[in-house]
Amino acid sequence: MNPISIEFTSIGPARYLQLAKALRKAIKSGDLVPGTKLSSARKMADIYALNRHTVMNALQILVAEGWLESRQRAGYFVTNSLPIDSSVTRSENKHTQSEGGREYSTYQFSFANDIKFQKAMSLADYQYNFAGGLPDLAAFPFAEFKRATSSACQRLNTNLLHYGEAAGVPELKSQILAYLHRARNLNAKELLICNGSQEALFIIAKAFVKQGDFIAVETLGYPPARKVFSACGASLIDIHQDEEGLCVDDLAMQLKQYPIKLLYLTPLHQYPTTVTLSMTRRMQIYQLCYEHGVAIIEDDYDHEFHYRCHPVAPLASDDPAGIVIYVSTFSKLMFAGARLGYVTCSSGIMAQLQAIKQLINHKNDVLTQLSVAQWMKEGGFERHSKRMTKLYKQKYAHLDSLLKSYQLKGYPITYDKPDGGMAMWVNMGVNVSKLKESVKSHGVYVQTQTEFYFNESSRSLNLAENKHTHLRLGFAGQSCENASHGLKIIIEQLYHS
Ligand SMILES: Cc1ncc(COP(=O)(O)O)c(C=O)c1O
Repeated sequence: MNPISIEFTSIGPARYLQLAKALRKAIKSGDLVPGTKLSSARKMADIYALNRHTVMNALQILVAEGWLESRQRAGYFVTNSLPIDSSVTRSENKHTQSEGGREYSTYQFSFANDIKFQKAMSLADYQYNFAGGLPDLAAFPFAEFKRATSSACQRLNTNLLHYGEAAGVPELKSQILAYLHRARNLNAKELLICNGSQEALFIIAKAFVKQGDFIAVETLGYPPARKVFSACGASLIDIHQDEEGLCVDDLAMQLKQYPIKLLYLTPLHQYPTTVTLSMTRRMQIYQLCYEHGVAIIEDDYDHEFHYRCHPVAPLASDDPAGIVIYVSTFSKLMFAGARLGYVTCSSGIMAQLQAIKQLINHKNDVLTQLSVAQWMKEGGFERHSKRMTKLYKQKYAHLDSLLKSYQLKGYPITYDKPDGGMAMWVNMGVNVSKLKESVKSHGVYVQTQTEFYFNESSRSLNLAENKHTHLRLGFAGQSCENASHGLKIIIEQLYHS
């Protein structure tokens, strides 16, 4: 065998590892074909100016890994059974995708779903961030939460750390159930803890949807929900909305036309328009869904933040027929990274959801669940919720006064103040569909009406009619100062450039 040329470096791994790596590479590439006898350890030590023990160490690694065989009194051989054919790899030297000298061409696999990966928004890219659901993390009581975490770890029931109950740790479930009763007038009995509401929506869709089943959704709606429903095989039926929310007449018409299985609703603060669905419409929608055997997914994502009155109780709080699947989250009251969401619903549905949760994962992060449970038990969670509601009320008032000042200057801005939430839905009076891109280079993140349509044809129709005039302006996540600067840039770009 001709010696393989190896350049040893003084930095990096030890020499025996460098030698093993070089020999491994030569075998993989076919430079050392199966059956080849290697030079003796003594000879290799001479060739590479190494100690014989160094060479022996390298050879033993390759024997242990199966690249070499040691034959008594005969020396070291490249393992005969390796599926390496040097003639093939050498002659087909034309492709560039190579691994240790071997050539590979890439496959075009066909996937079950045509799901597009979307690059996530990086908050660091934006100085002025009007994202609708961003909480103010500067006001999060990390020190208090850390104490709750440490206290949870001190009295840890280690049994919970093993595999087991997938639906959530009992401590957290009982805290949430008591909280829902106290704060949201919701007398739930069972709870499924999920990795955020997004996982809950996926589980619900998996439980209900077969390819081609119908889910009714709000026309302007929450894209992550609609994407998950579509990816699970649902055909989505857009239900019209007006300034009071979902149009009952349109829902009734669609229910006659399609065997709709689920209705996805954001009734407290409609996403993205922030409208609170009136009691009359809630009751009409409930009745219609009941008559047609449709389950309602109620996504109550920012319940606590209300500034003008007490929030309307969830649909789930008055659900005699057991058709409401209530979904909520800690992403707004804490932060999205906590990945804590939950579902409550009637026991028949719950059994299905729990079965699917078990398939997806054994359980959620137990330490986070226990920490949050401890924090809730100590009252920290509700204190934080009250503080944040107060803080967001100030920010809400600030954005309101900013918008009013531009109105007074003659800009064609109109909006209805929402009862609560973390964003305002503002009609800028001009087409905003290009704004997102144009303010990006100025460090401004904003959501435009264009992003909330689902049906391509209705979207282009509305575009042609120049109807995309709304922005969803989140006010909770950034300082009042940044909101003022950011809005100034938006005004400049929309009306003066
Ligand atoms: C309508 C709606 N649902 C749910 C959520 C929260 O999702 P998750 O719990 O997966 O973080 C949000 C957050 O923006 C939302 O806007």
